[in-house]
Parts: sequence; structure tokens; C-alpha cells
Amino acid sequence: MRIIKKIDVMRKFSLAEKKKGRTIGFVPTMGFLHAGHLSLIKKAGKRNDIVVVSIFVNPAQFLPNEDFSAYPKDFRKDALICREESVDVLFYPGRKDIYPAGFSTYVEETSLSKSLCGGSRPGHFKGVTTVVAKLFNIVVPNTVYFGQKDAQQSYIIKRMVSDLNMPVEIKVAPIVREPDGLALSSRNKYLTKGQRAKACFIYKALKIAEKRVKKGERSSAKIKAAIRHVIEANLRGEIDYIDIVDTENLKPLKKLKRKVLMAVAVNVGKARLIDNIILKPGR
Ligand code: PAJ
Repeated sequence: MRIIKKIDVMRKFSLAEKKKGRTIGFVPTMGFLHAGHLSLIKKAGKRNDIVVVSIFVNPAQFLPNEDFSAYPKDFRKDALICREESVDVLFYPGRKDIYPAGFSTYVEETSLSKSLCGGSRPGHFKGVTTVVAKLFNIVVPNTVYFGQKDAQQSYIIKRMVSDLNMPVEIKVAPIVREPDGLALSSRNKYLTKGQRAKACFIYKALKIAEKRVKKGERSSAKIKAAIRHVIEANLRGEIDYIDIVDTENLKPLKKLKRKVLMAVAVNVGKARLIDNIILKPGR
């Protein structure tokens, strides 16, 4: 496995491989890799000749009061994991490589970014789309792998790719969970033992809501209240949002129809935990 830190070296590598007719699968990450990231790396490995993983904790997507400097890091372990997965290149740029002095151009999606996490983290997705667009230009991948865990992020990236005619294919992989249902996240590291034990109630609440929808409930307000009840009864945390949105435009829905994204964000101690389920309620 090659560890590449410089942008021009990375791009040269990719262009040379493509010239030989090889396809490049790319998994962008912020490191502290876990089984969720691994599922994306494995998918990339199955369908591409070359796999590139990037690790870059992107300051532009953290708000001033957020955990940028505390964000967990373990580059040695990440590199070992990538090696074991036969990753071809680990791209590990420095902050100044990605954001040199004078950097002043951003990529912003202006509709899907408004709801859900975009509501409580204004500017977050602008940071994400900017760095992802840059990474696409640097890594020049054929296919890029994202996780359903960050559902809104993957919708926004797909829209960016379509709106800006970027020549890449986006694949979204299912959420990988702990045995008790908690979605894997680098931020789970912030949880104390007690918080960790209760954090599974976020997914349990979503599953209870899903059951009610399967039984015929179509009122967003009632389903959201059920989710809130389960979370508040079991978890000491501050609910940021519980929402049910249209998968086409991520706008809140009063009545469930067709395909909806049911998403929650809860602050549990130092960890901001997000989770979601897609439902197809029918008529
Ligand atoms: P990060 O949080 O490291 O996640 C990298 C990728 O792994 C994302 O596509 C995310 O959705 C996916 N992922 C995380 N947890 C997962 C899980 N439990 N199951 C499946 N996939 C999971 O998302 C980012 O980094 C950044 O915003 C990034 C896209 C790298 C831009 O900076």
C-alpha cells in the first residue's frame, strides 16, 4: 500500500492507472476507521481495480463550537486496517495542502442542505461539498462510496455530482450497526459506558416507529412523538431533531407517502449521534 500525502503525486498516480485501463474506487473518510468505513472499502475492492481511501479531518465542515480539534485520530491503526484490506493508496493530505493560504472558493448545494443536519449545523454541508469536490479532482475516481449513515450527505453529494456534471458514479452502502443496533460512528468513542449502553435506544426508537408505520400510521406528528417518547424515556440526551422528510427534496412531510427518510440527531454527552431509516409506506 502506498501512502500519498501530496496532491500532485496522488493525481499522477490515478491518471497513470486510468491510462492503463484500470478503474479507481474511492472511499473518502475522516479516519478513525471502523466497520462502517470497512464495508465501503470492501465494496470498492470488489468492483474496482484500484482502491483509494482518503483520511482528512476537514476543518471546513466543523462549526466553530464543534469537535474539530478533539476529533478522534489513530493514523497508524487506520493504515494497518487499510493494508489488511489491500487498499492500494491511502491519501493523507495535510491541512495546508487542501486549504493553502488564500483559499477562497467553495462549492455549495443550496436546497437539500437546508433541513435536518443543515438546520442545526449551518455551513457544515458547504464544507463537505467543497472538500469532496476537491477530493474528486485530486483522486479522479470512477466510483465513490458513501454510507447511508450520513443519508443527507449522500443525497447532497449526488445532487452536486449531477448539477456540476462531475464524471463520477456515487454508490451508497447500508448502515453498519453494533449488535444492539447503534450505528457505528467515530464519534461513539466520546460516549461513557453508561451513555453507550443507552445509545442503542436511538435505533430502537426508529424501529418502533417503523412498526407503527407498517401497521398503518401515516401522521408524521404521531410517529415523531413516538420516537421522541422512546428516546426521552431511555436516554439522557438532548434531541437536536426528529424528522420525516421526502427522499426527493428532504423537505418535512405532514403525512407519510411513497418513500420517506426518518432521521434523528441526538446529543449524548460530547457525542452528536445521527441515525436514519428509509420507509416505503405505500398509500
Ligand atoms: P466519515 O464520518 O469518516 O465517514 C466516511 C464515510 O463512511 C461516509 O460516507 C459515511 O457515511 C460512512 N459511514 C460512517 N459510519 C458508517 C456506518 N455505520 N455504516 C456505513 N457507512 C458509514 O462522512 C465523512 O467522513 C466526511 O463528511 C467526508 C465525506 C469524508 C468529507 O469530509
